[in-house]
Amino acid sequence: MTRRKLIAGNWKMNGSLATLAELDGIAAAAKARPDIDVAVAVPFTLITPAATRVPSLSIGAQDVHAADSGAHTGCVSAAMVREAGARFTIVGHSERRADQHETSQDAWAKATAAHRHGLNVILCCGETEAERDAGRAERVVQAQIEKSVPENATGDWLTLAYEPRWAIGTGRTPTLDDIAAIHAIARAKLRALIGDAAAQVRILYGGSVTGDNAAAILSTADVDGALVGGASLTAAKFVPIIEAA
Ligand code: PGA
Repeated sequence: MTRRKLIAGNWKMNGSLATLAELDGIAAAAKARPDIDVAVAVPFTLITPAATRVPSLSIGAQDVHAADSGAHTGCVSAAMVREAGARFTIVGHSERRADQHETSQDAWAKATAAHRHGLNVILCCGETEAERDAGRAERVVQAQIEKSVPENATGDWLTLAYEPRWAIGTGRTPTLDDIAAIHAIARAKLRALIGDAAAQVRILYGGSVTGDNAAAILSTADVDGALVGGASLTAAKFVPIIEAA
C-alpha cells in the first residue's frame, strides 16, 4: 500500500501579509517534489491572500466551527474557509484542546462539517507528558481516535496527525521506536473503525520536526508525513523538511 507523503505546515497565530513571501519558496520546493503533497495552514485572515499568491500550494485553515452558520461570535465555519480559498483544515489540535477545552467529540463534529463542505481534514491526537509517564499514551490515542474519526472517513479526505503534546514546540521528540509504536496502534484502531479504508489514511507525526530530524522521522514505519509548526514559518526552515520527505 503506497501512501503519498504529506508535509503540512501549521503557522498557528503567526504570519502577516508581509511574511506571505515565505510561501513563494515553499511553493517552489513543492513543485520540485511532484511525488509528495505539501500544504500550509495559515491564520483565517491570510487564507485568501495566501491562496491567491500561491495557487499551486494547498492552503488551509487551523480550525473550523462545527455549525454551518449562526450565533457564534468570533467563530468561522467550514463553508466560510472553503469560500476563502482553503482546501483543508486542521481539527482537534492540542492547543485548541488545551486553550479552548475542545474534546474529541468536538473534533468529530468539526471533521464531519469540514468534509461536508469539501475540505480535507488533518485530525490531531496525542497524549500529554503525564499520560505518557503513566504508561497511558497508547490508550489515550486510541480513545481520541475512536471518538473523533467520522464513520465515513476515507484516505481521500482524512489525514491523522499524531502529535504528543509534550513534543510540540519543545525541541523534544519521542524515540523513533515510540513514534512507530503509536502509529501502528493508530492504524490498527483506524482499521477497527473504518475497515479497509484505513490502509489509505495518512498518519503524520508532529512535534518539533526540523530539517535535522525530518529524514529519520519520515523514514520511520507507518509515518506518512509531518505536521510542522515552528519550522514551517520560513522557507529556509521548511524547505529542508520537504526535501527530506
Ligand atoms: P512544532 O508544532 O513543530 O512547533 O512543535 C507542531 C504542531 O503543533 O503542529
